[in-house]
Amino acid sequence: MSQALDEIKIGGLGASRRRVEDSRFIRGKGNYTDDIVLPGMLHMEILRSPVAHARIKSIDASKAWELPGVRLVLTGEMMATRNLAWMPTLSYDTQAVLATDKVRFQGQEVACVIADDPYIAKDACELIVVDYEQLPVIVNPVQAVAESAPIIRDDKENQAGNVIYDWEVGDKEGTDRAFAQADMVSKLRLHYPRSHPSPIECCGSIADFNRATSKLTVYMTSQAPHIIRAAVALVAELPEHMIRIISPDIGGGFGNKVPVYPGYVCSILASILLERPVKWIEDKSGNLISTGFARDVYLDGELALRSDGKILAVRMHTDADHGAFFSDAQPSKFKIGLLHSTFGCYDVPVGHLTARGMYTNKAPGGVAYRCSFRVTEAMFFQERMMHAAANDLGMDQAEFRRMNFVADDQFPFRTPFGFLLDSGQYRKCLDVGLEAVGYQDFLRQKEEAKANGRLLGIGISTMSEPLGAGNSREYDILGIKMFDSAELRVHMTGKALLRTGAKSQGQGHETTWAQIVAHELGIPAEDVTVEEGDTDTAPFGMGTYAARSTPVAGAAIAMVSRKVRAKARKLAAHHLEVSEEDVEWELGRFYVRSAPDRGVTIQECAMAAYSNMPDGMEPGLENNAYYDPPNLTWPFACYIVTVEVDPETGVWDVLNMVAVDDCGVRINPMIVEGQIMGGLTEAYAMANMQFITFDAEGNCVGSNYMDYLLPTSWETPGFELHGEVMTPCPHHPIGAKGVGECAAVGGPAAFVNAVMDAVKDTGVRNIDMPLLPDRVWEALTYRHDVSGAPPVRSDDD
Ligand code: CDP
Repeated sequence: MSQALDEIKIGGLGASRRRVEDSRFIRGKGNYTDDIVLPGMLHMEILRSPVAHARIKSIDASKAWELPGVRLVLTGEMMATRNLAWMPTLSYDTQAVLATDKVRFQGQEVACVIADDPYIAKDACELIVVDYEQLPVIVNPVQAVAESAPIIRDDKENQAGNVIYDWEVGDKEGTDRAFAQADMVSKLRLHYPRSHPSPIECCGSIADFNRATSKLTVYMTSQAPHIIRAAVALVAELPEHMIRIISPDIGGGFGNKVPVYPGYVCSILASILLERPVKWIEDKSGNLISTGFARDVYLDGELALRSDGKILAVRMHTDADHGAFFSDAQPSKFKIGLLHSTFGCYDVPVGHLTARGMYTNKAPGGVAYRCSFRVTEAMFFQERMMHAAANDLGMDQAEFRRMNFVADDQFPFRTPFGFLLDSGQYRKCLDVGLEAVGYQDFLRQKEEAKANGRLLGIGISTMSEPLGAGNSREYDILGIKMFDSAELRVHMTGKALLRTGAKSQGQGHETTWAQIVAHELGIPAEDVTVEEGDTDTAPFGMGTYAARSTPVAGAAIAMVSRKVRAKARKLAAHHLEVSEEDVEWELGRFYVRSAPDRGVTIQECAMAAYSNMPDGMEPGLENNAYYDPPNLTWPFACYIVTVEVDPETGVWDVLNMVAVDDCGVRINPMIVEGQIMGGLTEAYAMANMQFITFDAEGNCVGSNYMDYLLPTSWETPGFELHGEVMTPCPHHPIGAKGVGECAAVGGPAAFVNAVMDAVKDTGVRNIDMPLLPDRVWEALTYRHDVSGAPPVRSDDD
């Protein structure tokens, strides 16, 4: 007789459980960094450079010191006396904390004021006089490698030019051979523009150094608190156990809150010097101008094609603009992140990719904005190249993709750049998408519309992206291996406390992590408290970015639950007076195989762990697990968009958008859908409206929400989501794959491809994002490609 619990009722795997964190968020009861007020707390403001490249001749802070309420003014010179003017970055580079010799981008941190309130601190910043001697400015990779280019990082010994790395992967000779045999070569040149994650909450920190205990506590908006603790230990030369990083609620991160920012270091030093808590909360323009830019990569891509549509080889060269400091996080081994995950879902026999990174006079760039280390660029380039190639061949967009897909029986499949795809049903996903969008009907409508002077277009984007770095063999940041962790403590009443090394920024971990415990142990999800983000209590973890939480921390939660269940089984056998081998498990309960009515619940086992354990058994019911994934997980997505372009104005409207996501087992289908909708909204914003660039003098243009638009529900089109294709991940303990970033990664190409399809008859091959009406109008009117690359100075023309 089975007494198994109904998994959905206890909020286990597959339950669309309402988000537990929302009860505090929607009532305004969240606890964000700026909500924290400590006794005696002071406030810090940062003075930023107004120019992009200049020598600092002098800094006069005397007037700022004189302003009543000012407690401290920090300059680069003062930082240098403590060996803190520069700090190491997460990519083996160095970054100025406060500028000493030069400023190298507009918005760079030049000085800090710490005062009784933030307004005094801001006023005092305006009293600091900096004498700048302006230098020539570099705003794109072409300028960066020009012979006459000034060396931006002349602070670094042996830095001969502005190239940071020159990296290659793949088989050059094999690729050359395949190209020589091709019937046709399809070429495309494009730029994935800079974009900014722009979370609603900006970055910030409160440093609280306690002289009596020598302990430093820092509350901060970090997606990776343990990495920050390691960085602080190295930079401030404090012992690790004397540093406590607490990431409280975070109002969106999207990669913006992974790097170490100068503001953190300055607030820490100020707190140590003043022995008072020091709060730094970045303002919106500070956030938009100086932190965590993403993308800014140029592509020259080529596909070698057989006339029947088979792809024979891929060749790509990319130039990535990293700004003045190479400060984003990525696995040490892969200089250009996982850009070489491109062309994974297609059976391409051979490929060669070369990638250069450049210094320019821009804020540090290259963070993985809702993206696994450049996967967004990888998939965008792939899908734009697929679109162009299908047109060059005169083939149907869908058919071209289908015939080149990795087939269901080819897994595990090695990609041309060395990744191992785990599983998938790509053709099925495409079919579901085509059916949902009414593909053939739309193609007919499009032809009819054309006859009436209307421009309709359809764009497809299909991709399988790698989520869940590492395994530890290949993935590390600064030598720290990329694994993750979970600690589970079951109290005697059967309620539980789960702690992980991940850190939610809105993804709903408090809800979904409890569901994994419910699934593994039968403890109702509502009986499991989830805690993350405090380095004094959470087990060591690499944090949350690159949609790695479910693939890595999620797996650790399943594994620790299984360890706890193994001990509970021993307790059950003792209680039931049978041997362990005679005990069976069903959700939430052990029973005697030969007498299923005789059983004990997991809650009874928990009580026994504290009150009736067998002789020799350690009391308590808790454990921990460190999970080192054997591989990345490879979700698949098919996004299809239909648009209408107004030929008079270049304005385009989305008619329909269909999303088919196969992310393996869905822990919480409602949350997964929320993740996809959010990602598609960001994709739409990047493709359509987010304009942030730099002029020839290095001024950041668009660093305000009038130009860099955040779409509201008013602007955002409706999305039709499909989750009916589900291919479990073969190596993840519960078969789940990551999903958090799929739509933001795969979505942009679908929108762009749709507009490019609508304007196809002009012969235009590319319009760079954002596809603002004036760019589309220019393409339609002048029938040429439209580049989004920043302009160079006229004397460079
Ligand atoms: O690392 P991050 O949390 O940003 O991304 P993720 O691991 O893809 O998870 C995003 C959210 O979706 C989390 O709350 C996950 O637990 C949930 N999710 C899910 O319910 N099922 C999946 N197969 C993947 C994610």
